[in-house]
Formats: sequence, C-alpha cells, structure tokens
Amino acid sequence: MTASLEEVAFKLAAGGKGLLAADESASTIKKRFDAIGVESTEENRRDYREMLFRSEAMTQYISGVILFDETIRQNAKDGTPLVKLIEAAGSIPGIKVDLSAKPQPGCPGETITEGLDGLAGRFKEYYDLGARFAKWRAVIDIGQHIPSYTSILANAQALARYAALAQQAGIVPIVEPEVLMDGDHDIDRCYDVTEWVLKEVFQQLFYGRVKLEGMVLKPNMVIAGRKSQKQASVAEVAEKTARCLKNCVPSAVPSVAFLSGGQSDEEATAHLDAMIRNGGLPWNLTFSYGRALQAAPQKAWSGKPENVAAGQAAFTHRAKMNYLAALGQWTPEIEHQKAA
Ligand code: 13P
Repeated sequence: MTASLEEVAFKLAAGGKGLLAADESASTIKKRFDAIGVESTEENRRDYREMLFRSEAMTQYISGVILFDETIRQNAKDGTPLVKLIEAAGSIPGIKVDLSAKPQPGCPGETITEGLDGLAGRFKEYYDLGARFAKWRAVIDIGQHIPSYTSILANAQALARYAALAQQAGIVPIVEPEVLMDGDHDIDRCYDVTEWVLKEVFQQLFYGRVKLEGMVLKPNMVIAGRKSQKQASVAEVAEKTARCLKNCVPSAVPSVAFLSGGQSDEEATAHLDAMIRNGGLPWNLTFSYGRALQAAPQKAWSGKPENVAAGQAAFTHRAKMNYLAALGQWTPEIEHQKAA
C-alpha cells in the first residue's frame, strides 16, 4: 500500500528523526570535496554517499534523505541501488528537483529558482525511481536594497507551482524559502525579511491550491547575518524563530524541518533544542541539515577507504545530537562527552 501525502509529510519529522540533505549539486559537492582534498569523480561521490547511507545513523535518526539527480540513479559498489539502501534502513528517499537559483532580470543581486518546465514528467520518473518527497529551494538574500517584492513574489509563485505539481504526482513537496545568513544584518532584520517571505509563500501556496497537510516547510532560522557585529544568543534565536513561524505558518502544516544555512554544527543543534524545550508549537519541528550533518564526516573520511568507519561514526554522532535536539534532550555536556 502506498503511504498518503499526509503520512509521508508527518513521518519526515516524527519521533525526533530528521532529514539528511545530501542533494549537493555537482558544483557544490566539488567545493566540499576540494576542501578535503578529494577529486569530485562520479565514483568518489558514490563512495562518499554510500558511506553515509550505510551508517548506523540511518536506522535510528534519519527519517529521509534528499538526493541529487545523479545519486538517485546510482548503485552501491555491490550493485544495490542507493535508493534501496535508504529504504532498507527504514528511511524515505527524496529528490531535489529545482535547477538552482539564477540571476533575476531587473533585480540586481537577486535570484529566481528555475526548473518548472517539464517538471510534471520529471516527477513521474522520480516517483518510479523511488522518491516519495521532493525539495525546491528559493534563495532570498538580504542587502541594503534587497529583497524586492518582485523577487519574493516570483520565488513564492514558483514554490507554489512546484508544490502543486509534486502533490499531483503523489510526492510530498518540501517548500524551502531560504533567507540567507551571509550578510551583516542583525537578527531583527532577518526576522522582518523571513516574516515577509513566509507570508507571501503561504499566500501563493493557497492560490496554487497546495494541500498544507501534505507538505513540509524547510525554513531558515531567524538569526543575525554571519558578518554582523551583533550576534544573538541561543535563547534569542529560539524565541524569535518560533515567534516568526507562529505568525506565518498555519498549524495544518504537519512538519517543519530547518536548514542549517552555514551555522556551526553545534549552533544548529543548540538552536533546535532550545525551540523544542520552549514548547508550545503546533507542528513537529526537526532538522534537514546539509552542512551541519556532513562537515564532520567529510573531514573524518577525507576520501580514504580506511576512514569509512570514522566517517560513519562522525555522521552518526551528529545525527544523534540533532535527534536529541529534536526531542529537546540535547545538552552541551552530552555533546562534549563524545569529544572527550
Ligand atoms: P544546509 O543545512 O547546508 O543549509 O543545507 C540544507 C539544504 O538542503 C539547503 O538547500
């Protein structure tokens, strides 16, 4: 029996489990591999992802994995499709379907995410390959004169069209409007922009006839820009993020899974934990991290077959810390017990 959209959307953030975002595009994974001195060949990319999918983390802490087009078609070294490894671990395979953010005409410094043309047909193929959820990422930068409403609206409309097409294909859409933390803005500016973006996204999801019960929201946290002089405390990030989401995200949405966006591993974990501890949220809240789950295993692995066990241990540790955070049971002491 196939699970309904509602069941899959709920399961992705249930019981403390969260998502592994392993959907780096060819250029992004090359950047990550460059940093650890590994050549970005198809085989190395396969070996790296196979290492993650065969680790203990998958059965205990990871509800779903977001894959890139290349990976959903790849086989493990022994010939087993990588999708089957994920399913065998009790996790759900998903697929990134956007074709990335491109400069938006008339809007200097802003982007529009492409990939809608032919998407209905691509969804059919991805469903047959095993994908039961998908991801589309819109990117909103903060600067002196940006974002513009032109860009927010175009990106929100694209997210809504994508989400409607996904649901039509029996695939749960992860709707990801990412407000970047690259600038020098303070946390309150991030709050204002995130609120504006989320309001518009849910308005367009309504006009696009998207069923909120069958989707997952993947938002940024409300946080000061990386270059800001005024960094916010964990308590402030947790309080302002929860307040912003409560003002914008209908309680019909079952699951909210944060991106890490360039936060350190421990910050991303501590912020999630603090929000869960504060309580009072109508949705299940969890993680859908790329960098904050993979930086440690990438470093431990460094492309060497003899480091596979160390890479898997590093991934399992990070996944466990975020699982504990999603249950409101993480502490700095638990984090550092491991390091000792
Ligand atoms: P980060 O956690 O590294 O931000 O990646 C999550 C993601 O899927 C971005 O689209």
